[in-house]
Amino acid sequence: MTTTETISIGRLHFRVRPWHSDPSIAHLAMAPGGGLPEIAQIAECLGRIRDLGYESALTSAIDTAEGTAYRSLGFSERDRLRVMRHDLTELDQLKGGGRSSGYTCRRARKSDKLACLDIDSRAFEPFWRLDAGGLADAEAATPSRRFRVIQDRNRVLGYAVTGRGGQQGFIQRLATDPHVQRQGVASLLVVDALRWCGRRQTREVFVNTQVSNVAATRLYEKLGFVTTPNDLVVLFWSGD
Ligand SMILES: CC(C)(COP(=O)(O)OP(=O)(O)OC[C@H]1O[C@@H](n2cnc3c(N)ncnc32)[C@H](O)[C@@H]1OP(=O)(O)O)[C@@H](O)C(=O)NCCC(=O)NCCS
Repeated sequence: MTTTETISIGRLHFRVRPWHSDPSIAHLAMAPGGGLPEIAQIAECLGRIRDLGYESALTSAIDTAEGTAYRSLGFSERDRLRVMRHDLTELDQLKGGGRSSGYTCRRARKSDKLACLDIDSRAFEPFWRLDAGGLADAEAATPSRRFRVIQDRNRVLGYAVTGRGGQQGFIQRLATDPHVQRQGVASLLVVDALRWCGRRQTREVFVNTQVSNVAATRLYEKLGFVTTPNDLVVLFWSGD
C-alpha cells in the first residue's frame, strides 16, 4: 500500500496514504469542499482504513474546531502549528539576506529533487520530513506553484515550494541545508516567493510552522509575517 486511496463517505472524501511510507500509519487529508466531518463519518472512515490494513492514523493540519470531532474518537494532539500571514505590503523594502548576495536563486529542475529531499531530511526533525510523495503533494496542493532552489557553485543550499490559489499564496515548504543556515538562504527564498505572489494579484500569503520552531518564526517575523489567532493541530489516533 504505497499510493493514495480515496475514501468517500457521503459528500466527504478522505485522501489516505501511508505516513512516511510506513504502511501501518494512515495519513488522512480531506479533499476540499465537503464541509466539516461529523463524528459518525470519521468513525466510518477509521473502520475503512483498518480494512485497508492501517493500525493508526494521523490527520493533516486541521483547525482546532475541526479537531473536536476527531478528539471525541480518541485522537490526541501530536503537534500544533502557528499560522502566519503576510499582507504583501512593503515588498520593495524587503532584502533577501546580506551574506547571500553571491547565491543564485533559480527554478528547480527534476534533477534537483533528490538534493532537496536530502536537505529536507537533514533540516527537519524526523516527524516532519518529506518523502518524494509528500514533496509531490506540496507541489500539487494549489493551482499554481513555484519551486525554487538556491545554488552556490554546483551545490543546492536550500529550496522553497510556494503555491497560489485565488488571491492567496502559501509557502508550502522551505528548508536550508543545516551547514549553511543563518547565511540568508531562506530569506532569499521567502522574498522571492512573496515577490512572485505580489506580481500576481495575490492579496495575502500564509505559512504554517510548528509553534516550537523558533528559527522559522523569527525568519517570517523578520520578513513581515504576523501570527494569526488560528492555530492548526495535527492529531494522532493510536488505533485503540
Ligand atoms: C527556518 C530555516 C528555513 C531558516 O533558514 P536560514 O537560511 O538559516 O535563514 P536565514 O539565514 O535567511 O535567517 C534569516 C533570519 O531568520 C532568523 N533565524 C534564522 N534561523 C534562526 C535561528 N536558528 N534562531 C533564531 N532566529 C533565526 C533570524 O532573524 C535570521 O536573521 P539573522 O541571521 O540576521 O539574525 C532553517 O532553519 C531550516 O531549514 N529549518 C528547518 C526547516 C524549517 O523549519 N522550515 C520552515 C518550516 S515553515
